[in-house]
Amino acid sequence: MRGTKRFRLARPVAAALGAVLLVGGLAACGNSDTGGAADDGKITLGFSQVGAESGWRTANTTSVKEAAAAADIELKFDDAQQKQENQIKAIRNFIQQKVDVIAFSPVVESGWDTVLKEAKDADIPVILTDRAVDSADKSLYKTFLGSDFVKEGRLSGEWLLEQTKSATGPVNIVELQGTTGSAPANDRKKGFAEAIAANPNLSIVASQSGDFTRAGGKQVMEQFLKANPKIDVLFAHNDDMGLGALEAITAAGKVPGKDIIIITIDAVRDGMQALADGKFNFIAECSPLLGPQLMDLAKKVHAGEEVPPRIETEETTFTQEQAKEALPNRKY
Ligand code: AHR
Repeated sequence: MRGTKRFRLARPVAAALGAVLLVGGLAACGNSDTGGAADDGKITLGFSQVGAESGWRTANTTSVKEAAAAADIELKFDDAQQKQENQIKAIRNFIQQKVDVIAFSPVVESGWDTVLKEAKDADIPVILTDRAVDSADKSLYKTFLGSDFVKEGRLSGEWLLEQTKSATGPVNIVELQGTTGSAPANDRKKGFAEAIAANPNLSIVASQSGDFTRAGGKQVMEQFLKANPKIDVLFAHNDDMGLGALEAITAAGKVPGKDIIIITIDAVRDGMQALADGKFNFIAECSPLLGPQLMDLAKKVHAGEEVPPRIETEETTFTQEQAKEALPNRKY
């Protein structure tokens, strides 16, 4: 080409450069095969957990860690302490470390596109577990493994509809929401509201976030009790907030489960105990035991296999009688 200078490398230099490129290339292949961090042939999974806000979360973390060990997967575990910025940082670290697969349980639904695109550009498959994201581009992740949170809210509302079908006056409900902006808070609220809309006597008179924690549930319930002289029902988006609320209700001189009907979600052991003891009235289950399915998916996406875009967890509901029966065999 006119004006273009052509260079010829001296033969020994070219040979040396070729050797360097070859070794470098082999090393790069080795990295991507082993996930960069582990060079013993194991799959490396970077997992960013929401935090340790609830009994559910603790059980979920145990399930993930135990399943990784059983599946011989090297797990890089990060606790985001319920902060999205920590999760984004953790995912970027995983990308830098060239893990084979990234999985995370997004603390909130929005704001993931940029970091998910970075993972995609780095050719690292991502699995969403427990909570979904609202990204329009579904190619940014391989699959979403978790519960149908709308259904959990709807089942809770339908149970209440049945219990209150003969009510002739207003039934005042207070709602303890989960973490603001999180998929379970958005979806459980939606499912419950849609179900109770069938009876105009039922209305939500107060609704606020207790951040899925016992302390949050207690504190917000105290405010609800002060501001609302007549509370008939508490719908708490998880057991832990319901358990915190129990303390506030008892301290206010009311009998939980009798003066105030209590509906929660999760069915962790402490929640089931409260249900069996008559302090809660109904629980919609949300299973935290996602570890084995997650490891199976990690192996499949690493091998380039197709996986279904959505894998829903199987769940049930519990009344007080059912909780008494189920408690002795409850795993978490
Ligand atoms: O995302 C699942 C929810 O998160 C659980 O219901 C709750 O207990 C947890 O903190």
